[in-house]
Amino acid sequence: AEPIKVALLGCGTVGTEVVRLLHEQADDLAARVGAPVELTGIAVRRPNKHRDVPAELLTTDAAALVARADVDVVVEVIGGIEPVRTLLVDALSAGKSVVTANKALLAENGGELFTAADDSGADLYFEAAVAGAIPLLRPLRESLAGDRITRVMGIVNGTTNYILSAMEATGSGYAEALEEASRLGYAEADPTADVDGFDAAAKAAILASIAFHTRVTAADVHREGISAVTAADIAAARSLGRTVKLLAICERVTDAGGDEAVSVRVHPAMIPKSHPLAGVGGAFNAVFVEADAAGQLMFYGQGAGGAPTASAVLGDLVAVARNRVASGRGPRESAYAELPVRPMGQT
Ligand code: HSE
Repeated sequence: AEPIKVALLGCGTVGTEVVRLLHEQADDLAARVGAPVELTGIAVRRPNKHRDVPAELLTTDAAALVARADVDVVVEVIGGIEPVRTLLVDALSAGKSVVTANKALLAENGGELFTAADDSGADLYFEAAVAGAIPLLRPLRESLAGDRITRVMGIVNGTTNYILSAMEATGSGYAEALEEASRLGYAEADPTADVDGFDAAAKAAILASIAFHTRVTAADVHREGISAVTAADIAAARSLGRTVKLLAICERVTDAGGDEAVSVRVHPAMIPKSHPLAGVGGAFNAVFVEADAAGQLMFYGQGAGGAPTASAVLGDLVAVARNRVASGRGPRESAYAELPVRPMGQT
């Protein structure tokens, strides 16, 4: 079959790993997809900073790369809202498949992207946007598509879990633990996105949107970070047989009038040591899902870092490439349920 041609936008920690895996596994990927998967261009800001990728692929003109007639799939690992929003809407509108790791964009403008994808029939996959390597979004969108999900609750920020775990295990200070998380490449460029819960809130918005077939944006999410958690809080939790975790909680709720709504929140919580989420240490992520027929499910793994995140990107890339070979497409996100988000403290 004709090769599937891929444009990569961004070549940082994750992008570099995507290039490496595409190159190292080219033969396997071609066999799995049924066509070669070829990287045709990489858009970066400063080409002279990327000596480890083929120079002839580099360009500073992301818009021109996306617009190229021979590009079938756009993989985005730049992050942030603009110019990425415009680039991805243009790609989807032109019928190109999009794979993105961009949680902030999906949590703010997901509706616009899904509409652009549906209008043109293009694929939009984003497994890497929530919980890194963990297969979570596609199980929610596909494997559980015949069930009714009632709750999604998890540890979706590795940096804060690393900090809380270190404070609990060694009694180390908050600043020291944060520095180590940054050194290991888990923290965002601006760690306030992690410690104040913005990163987890964006992921919660995406999880609630796809689990409940509705639209939730980051601004709808009640958010409280970990900066006020003290060593005394952690000691108090321990004396109660509990542990402190920063949780993202997305639930279906029914108000007094019997109307359905969703509650979406991020805050530190004391959870019993016996709960499956209590044992999740270090920078690991884990998400606990409850559905009517399936019952309880738990997803666990590495939620951040270059290679783990690239694994999720490559999985999506194989999926969209297979869809193209089969002239088909993956799941749509119709948000048919239109559930209101219930503010905290209101029933
Ligand atoms: N800063 C994020 C984390 C990276 O610590 O989990 C993955 O989104």
